[in-house]
Order: sequence, then structure tokens, then C-alpha cells
Amino acid sequence: MRLAERMERIGIESAFDVLVRARALEAKGRSVVHLEIGEPDFPTPAHIVDAGKKALDDGWTHYGPTQGYPELREAVADYVSRTRRIRVGPQHVAIVPGGKPIIFFSMIALLEPGDEVIYPNPGFPIYESMIRTLGATPVAIPLIESRGFSFDLNLLRDRLGPRTKMLVLNSPQNPTGGVIPADDIAAIAAMVRNRDVVVLADEIYSRIYYDAEAPASIASLPGMLEKTIILDGFSKTYAMTGWRMGYGVMPEWLVDAVNKLMVNSNSCTASFTQRAGIAALTGPQDDVDRMVAEFRRRRDAFCKGLNEIPGFRCAIPGGAFYAFANVTETGMNSKELADLLLQEGGVACLNGGSFGKYGEGYLRFSYANSLENLMDAVERIRKVAVRWEATAGSRS
Ligand SMILES: Cc1ncc(COP(=O)(O)O)c(C=O)c1O
Repeated sequence: MRLAERMERIGIESAFDVLVRARALEAKGRSVVHLEIGEPDFPTPAHIVDAGKKALDDGWTHYGPTQGYPELREAVADYVSRTRRIRVGPQHVAIVPGGKPIIFFSMIALLEPGDEVIYPNPGFPIYESMIRTLGATPVAIPLIESRGFSFDLNLLRDRLGPRTKMLVLNSPQNPTGGVIPADDIAAIAAMVRNRDVVVLADEIYSRIYYDAEAPASIASLPGMLEKTIILDGFSKTYAMTGWRMGYGVMPEWLVDAVNKLMVNSNSCTASFTQRAGIAALTGPQDDVDRMVAEFRRRRDAFCKGLNEIPGFRCAIPGGAFYAFANVTETGMNSKELADLLLQEGGVACLNGGSFGKYGEGYLRFSYANSLENLMDAVERIRKVAVRWEATAGSRS
């Protein structure tokens, strides 16, 4: 029996592969600093866990409405209206099991073979995977290190064409930690406003940023709300990756389509987790603030450490919890270097190339690990880099 042809086009996320390899080394007694996985190393805040436990005790253990409980959709609509300075209601919200299903469902609902999707490269690998799986055409836009990993706007203008059906934006961004400046968001909105294009605005890291101003959302610009799908969720903001809950905010005709896909796949998102979601959005936010302050402390120390290693250059990321270091000056290709760091240094990180071809020459480090472990990692990386440099003569 053969798998369907589309399975030849579906991709994966290499973070999970590297985790398996790192765990195999640990099983042999090696010490590994884990900087590969993109999830906060903080516990889910206690009041959210309590709400989840109480929901189980209170019997929230059955099917719920496909679109999500109205109280949670109300809370999401309030939260998104407040944080993006827009006005949306519960009818615009679809609750789904994680942020990822919003990518999956919106692409299934909208894309046909021949449609083009413009997406950031390097970028979250699921975008390209889903575009290809559906037979649509991925149109990569390189992110520019010197522009804080934003787009080259002229290139974007050139790539927009009659077949462009969707534009994917992700800010703050995985894997670079880049934040698209408000001026760029305004320029992008001006380019797509009068086109028949849907914007998938992946804002899953919307609360994890280090400038005074929150990252701009394209949905808040005139004429954009009716053509934007905001993807956000609980995984990163509230350290709830394992609860599997996220949401999309979109025009009602798209909510209908997502509902149909949910009925065909999940029926609904788990009921008790949704009760915890209400507690997350309406309860105290101090844990989020504390987590972001700690990420900032680590970002500053870790990037400084990386920038002192021969051959490494790391732009200071404006958001998320990733450092995306340019390692071209080491003279090694980034896949080899990532392997060497794991095998010889015991540091698990990701080859930038696993986020698309424009990520070659970079390594992604997740700084969702303690400051102590991060500083240990810097030392380990330094030793590998210095040893590599010292043997350069014998290789040439
Ligand atoms: C850019 C981006 N979008 C979406 C997701 C998916 O989030 P979730 O775990 O809620 O499905 C991730 C997770 O790593 C991400 O980095």
C-alpha cells in the first residue's frame, strides 16, 4: 500500500528530531544543554492550573461547542480587541487545539493548486509544509538580518502577483526573534489592501517583546481586519504548550470554514482546558510579565556571550525567545556546526537551514533555559569554536 502522493510533500519540524538525538546522547551519560525546543521553561501559572483542575472536578469533561465555549470566545475577543486596538466579537473567534491548527485549517480552507503564498524564509517550517502539501506554490521572501529580520519591501512588492492568495506574516518571529517595525507593517498593508489576498498574521509571540511598544498587528490598519486571520494562543504567553489550545480571529465566513474542518477533525477543543483559558485571559498577568522580564535578562546575557565567540554574530532579537546567530564567519556550514555543537559540545540547537534556505549560515538557539545553563552553553560553544579555529590550518 502506498501513502497518498501529498505525503511526499509534507514536511516536519526538526526541533523534535534534534530533541530525540539529544536525549539519545543523554541516555549514554552525556550532558546536553537543551536550546532546541521552542517552549517556555516556566510552569503554567498556578491560578490557570487551578482553574483547569477545578474544571475537571466540576465535570467539564465532555464535548463542547465546535467553535469553542462562548465565554472563552468572549474573553478572547475582548483580549484581542484590547491588545490590537480593533473591535472584534466572539463570532470572529475560533478556538482550536493550539496555534498550529489555525495554519492548517486556514490553508486547507483557502488554498488550491496554483495559488501562491508569500511567506517568510527563514520561517516556521509548518507554513511551507502546508503550502506544498496542498499543492499551492510557496513564494519565499528572505528576511534581512540588517533590517532586524524584516522583509525587503521592494522584493515583497515584486513577488505579489495575480496568483497571490495569501501572505503569511509572523511577528515576533520564529526563528529569528525579529519584530516587523510598525512602518513596515503599514507599508505591507498598503500593498495588499486592495488585493484579493488573505493575510495570515501569526502573532503567537505577541506578548513576548522587549521594546516599549507592542509589536504592530496588521489587523489594526484600515481595511485590513476583513482580510486578516490573527493566529494567537496560550502556548507561549502562558507557558501552556501541552494544554493544546489556541485561536484564530477572522471574518465570519472563514470562521464557518474552520468550524467545518474542526467538526471533521477534532469535534471541539478539550472542555476543561478552555475553562483554564478563561482564567488565563481574565486573571492576573504578573506571571507573564515576570517571564518576559526573565527572557530579556537571558537574551541580553546570552547574545552578549555569543557575540564574543570567534565567528559568531548575533543580532539582538526584539521578541520571542530565540537568538539567531550568523555563523558564516566560522567557515563551517550551519548544519555541520549544529551537529558538532551537539556531538562535541553537548549543546542542542537548530540549523537555521531547517527553517528554509535563507536560514543557511545561522543557528537558532532557544533561550528558554536557565541563565546558568545558557552561560554554560556559551562556554561549551566557545570551546568547540576555538578548537575548530585552532585546527583550521591543518585543514587548509
Ligand atoms: C511561529 C509559530 N507559530 C505557531 C506555533 C504553534 O503553536 P502551538 O504550540 O500553540 O500550536 C509556533 C510554535 O512553535 C510558532 O513558533
